[in-house]
Amino acid sequence: METSGKATILITGATGNIGTEVSKQLSAEKVPFKAMVRSAEEAKLLKSLPYCEIVTGNFDDTASIEAALQGIETAFLLTNSTEKAEKQQSDFVEAAKKSGVKHIVKQSQWAADQHSPVRFLRYHALVEQRIKDSELNYTFLRPNLFMQGLLGFKGTIVEQGKFFAAVGEAKISAVDIRDIASVAVKALTGKEHYNKIYNLTGPAAITHQEMAGYLSEATGKAITFIDVSPESMMQALLDAKFPEWMAEGLIEDYAHYARGEAAVVTDDIKKVTGKAPYDFKSFADDYKSQFAN
Ligand SMILES: NC(=O)c1ccc[n+]([C@@H]2O[C@H](COP(=O)([O-])OP(=O)(O)OC[C@H]3O[C@@H](n4cnc5c(N)ncnc54)[C@H](OP(=O)(O)O)[C@@H]3O)[C@@H](O)[C@H]2O)c1
Repeated sequence: METSGKATILITGATGNIGTEVSKQLSAEKVPFKAMVRSAEEAKLLKSLPYCEIVTGNFDDTASIEAALQGIETAFLLTNSTEKAEKQQSDFVEAAKKSGVKHIVKQSQWAADQHSPVRFLRYHALVEQRIKDSELNYTFLRPNLFMQGLLGFKGTIVEQGKFFAAVGEAKISAVDIRDIASVAVKALTGKEHYNKIYNLTGPAAITHQEMAGYLSEATGKAITFIDVSPESMMQALLDAKFPEWMAEGLIEDYAHYARGEAAVVTDDIKKVTGKAPYDFKSFADDYKSQFAN
């Protein structure tokens, strides 16, 4: 581990999809930061990153969060979407306020809305409101469906050349997590992003059938998308041991996609980073080895 200067940025969710990418990019830009993890032993990749200091903290243990926030000015707030997420994130906001944090960059979600039928979108909107009420500076990142979410289907893609979801032929402006992380890094390191909401999408809205086409082209093997009923998708999630609350939330999420509510394309990524976002073809080319065998 190498650090330089005083780290005033804290990354939570640092071992996850987005947090790992944010950490890698901060490190590459030589920005000193602290990565909060539940188990320092497990955090092998983070430990190898220059400019990264590991701190331990658990969202369910307020004292550990307060300790992790010592000396922090800017925090990246991300938890996974469980039934505890609203409380975990709200408690974090309160601890951040008490600890003298100036700015929270919150990982939210496309179409966050307190009145949404999608539970994830309701809790994200409630936490956004708590951050606003706390009068801390905020940046809300509201990304659409992650392209890398397709990696969750790689089991059936590799074994059967198929993936399944209850989404019909809806177009979705899915976004690459590398772009979400680039926006997060800009927001964490520049005051011009205070009190902004960024709606993060890929450069085009495409159907799951089109995604299958790009994956087939990239891997050189036939990959087909099969539309299924919400009931059948729910059963598959439960069989895959997803907790019921999360599985129900995913069904609500896919119903929202199926209604065509996630098809708008924005240019927020380009505006913030100066670079065009990755398209699905680039994602498929860059990750093809994971879908191929
Ligand atoms: N998937 C999508 O398409 C999509 C689209 C838009 C928005 N989002 C939002 O993105 C977020 C998920 O991002 P992600 O995919 O990067 O998450 P992820 O890969 O599931 O990572 C979750 C992170 O939270 C940490 N964590 C879990 N419980 C914790 C606890 N009690 N204390 C401390 N840390 C804890 C995990 O650490 P451990 O390693 O210790 O488990 C991990 O680092 C959600 O808020 C979701 O709503 C997702």
